[in-house]
Amino acid sequence: MRITTSAAKPTSVQADLLAVAVTKPLELSGPVAELDEALGGQISRLVRSGELRPGAGSLTVLHTEGRGIRARRVALAGMGSGAKAGDDELRNAAAAAARALQRARGTRMAMVADIPGFDAAEAARCVVDGVAIGTYRYDRFRTRRDLPPVPASLSLLTPERAVGAAARRAGLVAAATNRARDLQNAPPNVLGPQELADRARELAREHPALRVRVLDRRGLERRRMGAFLATAQASSRPPLLIALEHTPRRAPRRRGEVVLGIVGKGLTYDSGGYSLKPRNSLVGMKYDMSGAAAAIEATSAIAELGLPLRVVTVVGACENMVARDAMKVDDVVTAANGKTIEITNTDAEGRLVLADCLHYARGEGATHVVDLATLTGGIITGLGDFHGGLFGRDQEWVDRLMAAGERSGDHLWPMPLHDTFRRLYRSDIADMANSGTSGAAQPCYAAHFLSEFAGDGPWAHLDIAGTADLTRPRDYYAKGGTGFGVRLLVELAESLC
Ligand code: BES
Ligand code: MN
Ligand code: ZN
Repeated sequence: MRITTSAAKPTSVQADLLAVAVTKPLELSGPVAELDEALGGQISRLVRSGELRPGAGSLTVLHTEGRGIRARRVALAGMGSGAKAGDDELRNAAAAAARALQRARGTRMAMVADIPGFDAAEAARCVVDGVAIGTYRYDRFRTRRDLPPVPASLSLLTPERAVGAAARRAGLVAAATNRARDLQNAPPNVLGPQELADRARELAREHPALRVRVLDRRGLERRRMGAFLATAQASSRPPLLIALEHTPRRAPRRRGEVVLGIVGKGLTYDSGGYSLKPRNSLVGMKYDMSGAAAAIEATSAIAELGLPLRVVTVVGACENMVARDAMKVDDVVTAANGKTIEITNTDAEGRLVLADCLHYARGEGATHVVDLATLTGGIITGLGDFHGGLFGRDQEWVDRLMAAGERSGDHLWPMPLHDTFRRLYRSDIADMANSGTSGAAQPCYAAHFLSEFAGDGPWAHLDIAGTADLTRPRDYYAKGGTGFGVRLLVELAESLC
């Protein structure tokens, strides 16, 4: 999608659809008043008759039919009460308008980005998010090809010159988000560890600032990654540890200080293993690599943006399967940091893979670490599909992540990481067990388990099991993968530059 900015008047811009975000109560001023006048008072008549109400999610499309407006359609997208209308309401409004454009089989969209109460750059970013993320569709396996077109161009109407850079940045990050969704949505027979590694290799070829390193089974063995290896041992698709390193061309401002470590859970399928998941719980387990998808594509966006920051991205890619030589309940494995783990549930596999990946990221020099993982069903029960669970002990690091979440649209909510949770994964024979017996506080003790492998220095864990993929559409998202984490990680990286 080509993104441009223009200082043109709304009436003079050429487009298949021109959108204006409106709030309650609808004020006939600014661009709305100009359009109303050009349309011979049609908007004010609809407002008076009660047919046009700018509630959140509402959309009114008017055909301009050659009147004093060059765009073919005008869409008024509601954001609800003006006092409450924020970034997400604007993203939703832009997405609703973009979908109306698609329904009309148009491809050229324009939207007023000079919005009362919004910073100009912020508004541009939200509009781009809404249009780009809101029109995403996964159609790789559709043989019917007469699907509505995705917008080809988006023109942001604003008098502010500085908005161009913000809009381009948002477009780039939204595209990375959609690429992560492509990885997420790919079926598990098509995308395994090897294909994730191929994507990382492709990125390293595209960007001179990125280097890739892939450890195969032998490499994992050499580094004594017993926890990761145990998880993967039943699969015919060999496990791969994928490391992407971003070394900026521009020197980091705070030289040598911060190396961002991004760790992603990359289970391209999680059957549960011998602690097999029940029938309905297997559905959607292809999404268990969502942390990895976000980690990889965020790193690609960081490289594209040329951020002056060193980044070490580590993905643990494998499948959790059932086979003759699968890991068993009662096994004891030794992680790369030397700690021993009794397997009490083979379905608590993510923490095993992450244990060794976190240790590896520290070894590669990561000073500030964040991991993203579809780790527990409990986080879905507790937080739902809007907030990712945020765990960490370093308050500054947690606050920074929280703020990046708010700004990016990938929202987080803090969860406790108290030492009391240690007793929930005690083992009788090893340093710890990989799961507890009580069923209580699973997201919390899973996070605490990870902390045993996160080394020294700031670390945070994001449990994204609820936000990574949706079983029904919400807000500007279709169902399926959301790319959760990509915008957040880029925002986080920028905050460190
Ligand atoms: N990948 C799952 C978590 C998950 C569940 C993600 C549902 C998305 C939807 C994870 O590997 C898992 O199985 N977790 C178990 C842990 C338990 C055995 C301690 C869970 O949450 O039930
Ligand atoms: Mn599992
Ligand atoms: Zn899993």
